[in-house]
Amino acid sequence: MFEYQKNNTFFAQVTGLMEALGEKELQELGAVNTKITYRGVYFEADKASLYRINYSSRMLSRILAPLLSFPCRSTEALTRTASKVKWERIFSAEQTFSISSSVTKSRITNSLYASQCLKDGIADYFRDKYGRRPSVNTVNPDVRFNLHIEKDNAVLSLDTSGESLHKRGYRLLGGDAPMQETVAAAIIRLSEWDGKKPLWDPMCGSGTLLCEALMYYCGIPAQYLRKNFGFSHLPDYEKNLWVKVKKEMDDKIIPLPEGIISGSDISQKVIETARTNLSRLPFFEKVKLSGQPFQHIKEFHNGVIVTNPPYGIRMGKPEEVQLLFKEFGDFIKQRCNGTTVFLYAGEPSLRKYIGLKTSKRIPLSNGKFEGVLLRIDSYEGTKKKFNKDELN
Ligand SMILES: C[S@@+](CC[C@H](N)C(=O)[O-])C[C@H]1O[C@@H](n2cnc3c(N)ncnc32)[C@H](O)[C@@H]1O
Repeated sequence: MFEYQKNNTFFAQVTGLMEALGEKELQELGAVNTKITYRGVYFEADKASLYRINYSSRMLSRILAPLLSFPCRSTEALTRTASKVKWERIFSAEQTFSISSSVTKSRITNSLYASQCLKDGIADYFRDKYGRRPSVNTVNPDVRFNLHIEKDNAVLSLDTSGESLHKRGYRLLGGDAPMQETVAAAIIRLSEWDGKKPLWDPMCGSGTLLCEALMYYCGIPAQYLRKNFGFSHLPDYEKNLWVKVKKEMDDKIIPLPEGIISGSDISQKVIETARTNLSRLPFFEKVKLSGQPFQHIKEFHNGVIVTNPPYGIRMGKPEEVQLLFKEFGDFIKQRCNGTTVFLYAGEPSLRKYIGLKTSKRIPLSNGKFEGVLLRIDSYEGTKKKFNKDELN
């Protein structure tokens, strides 16, 4: 019996600063006894919930099922342990595998070498028993393992997600500085947008925030486009149960009303990218897109803006970006009455150039950038109604 089968305990990996959001989402999807740690959440879940979490989570990166924990003071312990696991319960010599490792406060300091020792141990096991060994494939393996060594203990897990969950399958093309899908999903969630007001991204790039808003509103599971999950390699995988869980989630999908989500960008080229990405999702045709600078938009009243302007690291010179932030601040002040703005600034110091009071500042990492999500409530002046034709 593997470790996760004894107590139904799993570990969700999550981007830094999103642990609390990840925990909340886990609970909504059926996890119990959750416990936050650095960049992760421990939780308990039954089989159906494990499948549901992998299929539907918008904010988690990977779900690991611990196979075994063992004392590990040297790399020999890895090779030795590898020879004792019945690997054929998980995969065969004809399949490919990969191991990602992390080491903390351990005598073993080289995580790559630790992976290598474990890989050799697994390969030897198969060769001794079956005369053949599975190949390693680091790009697109059939099965992924995770090895975490902390002090003198190691935990070997099966990655039940497979590819990282931030990969939804809609973004085969990115813009110049695309936002991570899990972060975009967190921004939509933090905006508390519920579809009653129109949502607009005036600097939409490849459309990540728009895709996540569409999926969120319609209840489209985040992995709707994914064909393979790591959990299908668990020895107790139940295909019928997975089909049932998937159907239950898919049955909850609702259509997107016309014009409640729109995006624009100064670059016509990235608008085409956004269109291509969106077109992989149901109801994409209801999202309005236009190639124009926000400065050309007449007004956007009583709505929700979510956006991620350039921030001078990956794109734009600092002076240009500062001016852009100032112009965007003026735009909000003068043409967006009654609108709530959620602006993700990849570089927090740019906040001062907006020239508007922020009612919330939420630290949020996007890849290696430690950015901040700013909430700006544009004062309610003339309560004009949103006119979607103005975005044409
Ligand atoms: C950081 S990227 C947005 C990335 C986007 N969230 C994504 O996931 O692809 C910033 C975008 O702002 C656009 N942009 C820059 N200046 C603009 C302006 N004045 N009006 C509209 N869009 C602008 C750029 O073309 C770029 O696509």
